[in-house]
Amino acid sequence: MGTVSSGVLPPEGVQRMFDRIAPVYDAMNRVMTAGLDRRWRAITLDETVRSGDRVLDACCGTGDLAIGARTRGADVVGLDFSPAMLERARHKDPSIEWVQGDALALPFPDASFDAATVGFGVRNVADLEAGLRELRRVLRDGGRLGILEITTPRGVLAPFYKVWFDRIVPRLGKVLPGGDAYTYLPASVRRFPPPDELKALLERSGFANVRYRLFAGGIVALHVGEAS
Ligand SMILES: C[S@@+](CC[C@H](N)C(=O)[O-])C[C@H]1O[C@@H](n2cnc3c(N)ncnc32)[C@H](O)[C@@H]1O
Repeated sequence: MGTVSSGVLPPEGVQRMFDRIAPVYDAMNRVMTAGLDRRWRAITLDETVRSGDRVLDACCGTGDLAIGARTRGADVVGLDFSPAMLERARHKDPSIEWVQGDALALPFPDASFDAATVGFGVRNVADLEAGLRELRRVLRDGGRLGILEITTPRGVLAPFYKVWFDRIVPRLGKVLPGGDAYTYLPASVRRFPPPDELKALLERSGFANVRYRLFAGGIVALHVGEAS
């Protein structure tokens, strides 16, 4: 399969959008997931991070996964290209190394991390396959990758999901600051590969033992793999 692109906004547009929504990002997460995102993040960290690991949290945003990894005894670097999101993260935990950078050109040597996490981030990266290969490059052989991402459910939930994402979320955008993000969100999810395809893409990008589990009736997927 060729390159999978977010194809919705150019990278500068994505960066500006996250700069604008940074002040409300955490609150919107809690509301839109009914607080479940905390549990999904905890499971992501349980499956990916060990105490003493050097961990990269790519597309770290306001830093919740990075801070969780630190709490588990890891030495953590959080990376994001939005200065406003990073500022929020730095405010929450000034002791973590927060780096402004591009997930497609990580400013780290090969094999410099034991584990990497990406929470609700890879969907936004302009070239998904290149992003996965870049994550593989900075992981040591056997290093673990955990990708937590919104996905498109099949089965009974699919029609409800369509109404929520295509009708309600964009309307929220009309009344909330940074509202274009909530038009962008459903569009970016629609373009993102379903769980089996993402698994295959991870395998082609240098990961083995790739598995995934679904949360909230298949609305969110956690993929875990090992750099091979
Ligand atoms: C939806 S937020 C997720 C934040 C956080 N990981 C979480 O779990 O809540 C996506 C983040 O990815 C960042 N991002 C998107 N593309 C990026 C790229 N190419 N390089 C670095 N950061 C990127 C955005 O700036 C934004 O902060």
